[in-house]
Amino acid sequence: MKVTLPKGTKDILPDEMIGWRFVENTFYQICINSGYGEIRTPVFEYTNLFNRGVGDTTDIVQKEMYTFNDKGGRSLTLRPEGTAGVARSFIEKGMASLPQPVKLFYMITAYRYENVQKGRYREFNQLGAEIFGAAGPVADVEVISLLNNFFSKLGLDKLSLEINSIGCPGCRNAYNVKLKEYYSDRIDGMCADCKRRFDTNPLRLIDCKNESCIAASLDAPLMLDNLCGECASHFSGVKAGLDSLDIKYTVNPRIVRGLDYYTKTVFEFVSENVGTQGTVCGGGRYDGLVESLGGSGTPGIGFSLGVERLFMELESNNIITGDKLVPEIYFVTIGEKAYAYARKLSCALRRAGVYTEMDLLGRSVKAQMKDADRKNARYVLVVGDDEIRQNKAQIKIMETGELKDVSLDSIYKRILEKKVQVV
Ligand code: HAM
Repeated sequence: MKVTLPKGTKDILPDEMIGWRFVENTFYQICINSGYGEIRTPVFEYTNLFNRGVGDTTDIVQKEMYTFNDKGGRSLTLRPEGTAGVARSFIEKGMASLPQPVKLFYMITAYRYENVQKGRYREFNQLGAEIFGAAGPVADVEVISLLNNFFSKLGLDKLSLEINSIGCPGCRNAYNVKLKEYYSDRIDGMCADCKRRFDTNPLRLIDCKNESCIAASLDAPLMLDNLCGECASHFSGVKAGLDSLDIKYTVNPRIVRGLDYYTKTVFEFVSENVGTQGTVCGGGRYDGLVESLGGSGTPGIGFSLGVERLFMELESNNIITGDKLVPEIYFVTIGEKAYAYARKLSCALRRAGVYTEMDLLGRSVKAQMKDADRKNARYVLVVGDDEIRQNKAQIKIMETGELKDVSLDSIYKRILEKKVQVV
């Protein structure tokens, strides 16, 4: 039987990885320029972190986690997202005693047992950032502006930013009462998920994508109209901050997000190109998360962006991320002595940062030339015993086909000095 990839996973092959590296490097640089430090947390955590952090009532915890007992009988879960693990680390490593706020970013794989479809996988990649210890709307604006910078650096200007506020526990509790009142005589005609959430998390009924549920929700009261004074003023502050940076957004009062930890601001970057859900990036404020995991009361805000969905968006916009790498020099060698000589030179150049290629299969000169051509090498240096004896070799400029004599002694120096303008 042929061994295959597990459903919902993929290999990212070398040609694609060039684009991935470009995206990750761009994200890395933008985060570093914005004062964030990179963090890596484990792929698996104790299951109760996600039960408490992401929330018992969420689809993620109820249906989608990869949970298993290890050989010591501990319940572990492959992380379904990054925020809970980062918050756990913030608490465990005493980051509350560092100068605040603490700004962190990460590039991770995450795991959810989902129905696999376009833009939805079981192993996927997220780029994310979190700020701990900053309660004001300026922090919300900062994370959104980081994303805005990232997208514009990639040349993406078609993603739409949608924002909302889902209030704090105070105003949301009062709102939940209103919501339940509204849905009480409609819930019978709604889907099984909504029926389940009616008691535990009625806010989620608002964004159910099921047709009969959409119809039932048309006149539902909205959180945005029921915010307390502090939450309303926070939301105004976020909008004013985005306006002052000319960041375009629409207020979508139906964004509620699928994780329990959110408070106040929630936001998504959406696009038509990434499958049914359309969300490339999601985030928001979670002022109660650290405390709910046993830390001292610390506000938080952040986002995660799905890299696979980002690539769908880049591809639909014909944006090429990173050029295929081509060797500067391909050493074509004739005979063992020449091979050993060229290998030394090639190694030295590689150490100095120049991409060089050499044959590893004992190929003929003709086959080596063909390989150099296939790899799009910029220069080919033909080295044989005679060339070494005379300290002279021919270099071919592949673009023009022109041949030039070069002295072997000087070639290393010339390549480095002239930044690989060899001739
Ligand atoms: P999320 O909305 O669950 O939020 O996921 C964020 C992004 O991850 C989504 O917008 C999507 O691009 C990508 N994503 C999620 N599930 C899948 C999947 N099955 N296949 C492919 N891509 C997927 C979070 O994870 C929060 N931790 C975001 C956050 C950070 N909020 C505050 N800080």
